[in-house]
Amino acid sequence: MKKTLILAFAAMIMAVCSAKEPKTLITYFSASGITKSLSQELAAATGADLFEIEGAQPYTAEDVNLGNREARAFKEMADKSFRPEIKAKPEKLKSYDVVFIGFPIWGDAAPNIINTFIEQNDLKGKTVIIFSTSGSSNLTNSYNKLKEQYPDLNLVEGTTLKRNPTPEARQAVIDKLKEAIPAK
Ligand SMILES: Cc1cc2nc3c(=O)[nH]c(=O)nc-3n(C[C@H](O)[C@H](O)[C@H](O)COP(=O)(O)O)c2cc1C
Repeated sequence: MKKTLILAFAAMIMAVCSAKEPKTLITYFSASGITKSLSQELAAATGADLFEIEGAQPYTAEDVNLGNREARAFKEMADKSFRPEIKAKPEKLKSYDVVFIGFPIWGDAAPNIINTFIEQNDLKGKTVIIFSTSGSSNLTNSYNKLKEQYPDLNLVEGTTLKRNPTPEARQAVIDKLKEAIPAK
């Protein structure tokens, strides 16, 4: 009897705790894999679902060749109104309270494919936490540009993982992003 009561009490506590967890989706775009692995780590650390934003036309290594100013990424950066097509939309987006959007910083901004994603998916009413990976840029300029373009979104500035991070720096990014998830 005592055991049953204890189990029932434990189940109640667990139910209360899990009810406070907002449903979270981590979406990301990654051309060369760095943002992808960070997003996978974040998903493992938070238990959130994961969705990769992929170009309908996949990005190749040549597309992001920093030595070639004619490469696709530079052409996209030069035309801010261009919206690269996305392969697929996340399922059941409606059911999520929090949506992370991760991306590599290109030209101190989010790549245009992030604009496509934001414009094609209804994110109103959700907490949208952006994060990035970069060579050395901070996320703030990318955040400010998105905020200006989408003033109606509840956009939260996460943080960026810079090139060649120490394990501690990597962990600090995961911790900061986890902390950015608001309680329900
Ligand atoms: C076209 C292009 C532009 C970039 N511009 C910047 C930049 O402005 N600032 C920066 O710190 N890093 C810049 N980078 C470096 C990327 O942000 C960095 O390598 C990122 O981690 C790559 O992520 P991914 O592997 O997920 O694609 C740029 C990379 C490319 C390909």
